[in-house]
Amino acid sequence: MKYLWFGFFLFCSFWIIGFCDQDGFLSLSCGGRTSFIDSSNISWVTDTAYISTGNTATINYIEGTSSSSIPVRFFPDSAGRKCYRIPVKNTTSLVLVRAQFVYKNYDGLGKPPKFSVSLGTAITATINLAKLDPWTEEFIWTVTRETLSLCLNTIPNGGSPVISSLELRPLPQGSYTRDMKDFPSKLLRKSYRINCGYTNGSLRYPLDPYDRIWEADQNFTPFHVSTGFYISLSFNKPSLMEEPPSAVLQTARVLARRNVLTYNLPLDMLGDYYIILYFAKILPVFSSFDVLINGDVVQSNYTLDNPQASALYATQKGIKNINITLKGINFCPQVNAIEVYEMVDIPPEASSTTVSALQVIQQSTGMDLGWQDDPCYPSPWDRIGCEESVVTSLELSDINLRSISPTFGDLLDLKTLDLHNTSLAGEIQNLGSLQHLEKLNLSFNQLISLGLDLEDLVSLQILDLQNNSLQGTVPDSLGELEDLHLLNLENNKLQGPLPQSLKRETLEIRTSGNLCLFFFTTTCSSVSSHPSIEAPQFTIVPKKKHSTHNKLAIILGTVAGAASALLFISLSMFLYMSKRRRKVAYTAKAELDMRNWNAAKIFSYKEIKVATNNFKEVIGRGSFGSVYLAKLPDGKLAAVKVRFDKSQLGADSFINEVHLLSKIRHQNLVSLEGFCHDSKQQILVYEYLPGGSLVDHLYGLNRKKASLSWVRRLKIAVDAAKERVKGQRLRAWTIYTIGSEPRIIHRDVKCSNILLDMEMNAKVCDFGLSKQVTHADATHVTTVVKGTAGYLDPEYYSTQQLTEKSDVYSFGVVLLELICGREPLRHHGTPDSFNLVLWAKPYLQAGAFEIVDESIKGFFDLESMRKAALIAVKSVERDASQRPPIAEVLAELKEAYSIQLAYLASCEHEN
Ligand SMILES: *[C@@H]1O[C@H](CO)[C@@H](O)[C@H](O)[C@H]1NC(C)=O
Ligand SMILES: *[C@@H]1O[C@H](CO)[C@@H](O)[C@H](O)[C@H]1NC(C)=O
Ligand SMILES: *[C@@H]1O[C@H](CO)[C@@H](O)[C@H](O)[C@H]1NC(C)=O
Ligand SMILES: *[C@@H]1O[C@H](CO)[C@@H](O)[C@H](O)[C@H]1NC(C)=O
Ligand SMILES: *[C@@H]1O[C@H](CO)[C@@H](O)[C@H](O)[C@H]1NC(C)=O
Ligand SMILES: *[C@@H]1O[C@H](CO)[C@@H](O)[C@H](O)[C@H]1NC(C)=O
Ligand SMILES: *[C@@H]1O[C@H](CO)[C@@H](O)[C@H](O)[C@H]1NC(C)=O
Ligand SMILES: *[C@@H]1O[C@H](CO)[C@@H](O)[C@H](O)[C@H]1NC(C)=O
Repeated sequence: MKYLWFGFFLFCSFWIIGFCDQDGFLSLSCGGRTSFIDSSNISWVTDTAYISTGNTATINYIEGTSSSSIPVRFFPDSAGRKCYRIPVKNTTSLVLVRAQFVYKNYDGLGKPPKFSVSLGTAITATINLAKLDPWTEEFIWTVTRETLSLCLNTIPNGGSPVISSLELRPLPQGSYTRDMKDFPSKLLRKSYRINCGYTNGSLRYPLDPYDRIWEADQNFTPFHVSTGFYISLSFNKPSLMEEPPSAVLQTARVLARRNVLTYNLPLDMLGDYYIILYFAKILPVFSSFDVLINGDVVQSNYTLDNPQASALYATQKGIKNINITLKGINFCPQVNAIEVYEMVDIPPEASSTTVSALQVIQQSTGMDLGWQDDPCYPSPWDRIGCEESVVTSLELSDINLRSISPTFGDLLDLKTLDLHNTSLAGEIQNLGSLQHLEKLNLSFNQLISLGLDLEDLVSLQILDLQNNSLQGTVPDSLGELEDLHLLNLENNKLQGPLPQSLKRETLEIRTSGNLCLFFFTTTCSSVSSHPSIEAPQFTIVPKKKHSTHNKLAIILGTVAGAASALLFISLSMFLYMSKRRRKVAYTAKAELDMRNWNAAKIFSYKEIKVATNNFKEVIGRGSFGSVYLAKLPDGKLAAVKVRFDKSQLGADSFINEVHLLSKIRHQNLVSLEGFCHDSKQQILVYEYLPGGSLVDHLYGLNRKKASLSWVRRLKIAVDAAKERVKGQRLRAWTIYTIGSEPRIIHRDVKCSNILLDMEMNAKVCDFGLSKQVTHADATHVTTVVKGTAGYLDPEYYSTQQLTEKSDVYSFGVVLLELICGREPLRHHGTPDSFNLVLWAKPYLQAGAFEIVDESIKGFFDLESMRKAALIAVKSVERDASQRPPIAEVLAELKEAYSIQLAYLASCEHEN
């Protein structure tokens, strides 16, 4: 079935509204299995590219003499919102959205459902299929985002939402806005569209090129005189943005005898309405009349005296029904068409910082917070609370969060943050920016240190830290939180006197279950001093088993946690959490032994200083420090990476990197020329690649002028993938490991780590975070989450299970960057587009290549792009098991590459 609509895509340049033929129509047969062309010559496709949930059914029902069979999509288990997400081309500014809902007892239960429909942040309508079945809704949506999302929302006891079709029709720019200035940010919901004077059924495409459905007039009361004149009208387009079709203007309801013509139109909602009356003189008489809506004169002495079409626009506030009255002054009052729309409020969207922070949290925790667009509207999602359009509370409990990531600090409006039972360890951090935070619940975690951020939370009223492993004393600074009235420190390992500043009537402090925590130290005299953790210790011990090989003289002790056993080199240390007193002491032994390690040259600090001309030219910034240009004594250029971070992670990764790189030589890997470990400096000397990093070529600040062609990009992707395939099969030092084949998980695959040489061949660098895995354990490694935001495998983040598929994910992100020419996370533009993966996936899945980097548009072979796009999309599947192995990625990329080469050859041939 997939092939069917893929074939369809091939035929037409991809279904993005405003993109394809038929004036950019998109017609989805919800739950349908085949594409077809209907009696109006409109092409219908299945909806599978735009929604991934729901079940399908087929309704067979008999109406009159004919029986019909229509497919539907329904959402049985859906607590919450189920959304269609449809990319909209940015040249389209206004879209007609028409959805049809059919029940017809498809499930045999005889219980027609009731549910609501929302468009973007606005709840637009409540569908009650017990009242009307089928039910059609039509909206006019001003394009404000790159993706239109139409959602079905369950109502308690309302049953399973069901939908049968969804149609999108671009409308002329500037239409349906006149005289609406008093009502900004409104969405129009159709109440009536009447083809006055016409009695033979409804009119639509192709008579109306925008496929609006104009209903026949006789359904409306009172029905009296009407005439169908045929007049060939020429109308003045600019004056009528809405472009009502001639077929509609050619008929009018004309009052022959009586003086007053009135339409009574009941409305289903009390609300504000937008009314358009169309007039076109179809009788050869001069006619003039007053126009009244609900008794208000909207136009007096309205005159039809030339053959052009005209229109009257009006708004009415707070009404429940409409009567439109034409009071004749001079001959035959007449009206040709009427449109009435309810003006639905569009709530403002949440701030972009909040949206992107929540997206990162949602993606990185692997949690489905349940929303895709706006966290607050149409209804706030699971675990999120809002005031107006502002996210003020977030509750994430019973998941594995491990640490408070900087992202939480971006949720600036939070008043309540509840992270109880989320396996938080280490210190309380990254929350200092939350100036409105009133309630913070970090109970039932494994936090060790209070950190330094709490004192900045000036609005804090309730702080719950019970059942953690907090150590040390309670700092004075907590007393500065004037609004604090509940401080729960129960069941920790705190000791020492409580600051006197906390002793006040308005503050309740709970301290039971600690080592010794009172306002007066004397009470604690019995408590013996605990072996407290002071300066961190860093012990490097030789591992006897391997010392005979003399190559690897040291294996560093063990880190808590099973994972570390897998580390070829691991560090033994006491975790020590204070930022203020972080120091690392190396033993002389370590340095000595490092010299024996590898074949790479060892430089002195002095030599490095000379080579870099006293660290003159910065050519990049790596994950732990700056990179400088250097000229080695033999005249060769080199890149010198100086690491500033000597904390445990830095030292760990330095040793790791030197070790790995000295062992590996691979054509697609930046080679290590040498290193320097003098005077506590950690310096790595790499071969210099004049081409810069991929970031420079795609979107970086110093983006190179000539951008990379598609074929170049594919070549780079192939090179980088080769390195990964190779890395995973590395055998170089098997004898030193636990006996089986080791592999490397890079853990920091990203564009800035892919460098280009003079011939634009790609090489991968920065193994600071890489992790070696033995074959036996290759399925997963548990480890503390490290990596770069935007490239992090969401499954790894949520489970701490590092697999080779984690690199596949990051590599998939790199592929998306190559295709779209943009960074993985951005903080400008529409919220839809902040996160590259979330943004690009629906487009690429639908084969919609309009998001491809402008600079390669028109220069790529479709099949080549399709292959690359599909493998990229597969690589960033949330579920790691769904991602292809890196070897498969490489194979697909190679194919895409050769297809593009063939395409280029054929182009050349033609020229
Ligand atoms: C149907 O539409 C196609 C293109 O969309 C057009 O080529 C064809 O002429 C149309 N057929 C009719 C009967 O209008
Ligand atoms: C549409 O997008 C293109 C490129 O992304 C941009 O150059 C153009 O200005 C956009 N047009 C509108 C109307 O926003
Ligand atoms: C009404 O429309 C039908 C087709 O929908 C057409 O066959 C018939 O001739 C029309 N009748 C009039 C009076 O126009
Ligand atoms: C039209 O509406 C106005 C105001 O609601 C009301 O006073 C008037 O009686 C209505 N006219 C008709 C014919 O219903
Ligand atoms: C109505 O307008 C026409 C032309 O605009 C004018 O000739 C006529 O006198 C007006 N009638 C009244 C009653 O104001
Ligand atoms: C804490 O969360 C885990 C899941 O991460 C859950 O199994 C456990 O029951 C929770 N504990 C409490 C006390 O809620
Ligand atoms: C914090 O969360 C825990 C676990 O749900 C709960 O027992 C406790 O009452 C909460 N603290 C406050 C102050 O609400
Ligand atoms: C909290 O800590 C106390 C004391 O250590 C312990 O008895 C209790 O079971 C803990 N509660 C939970 C939910 O872990």
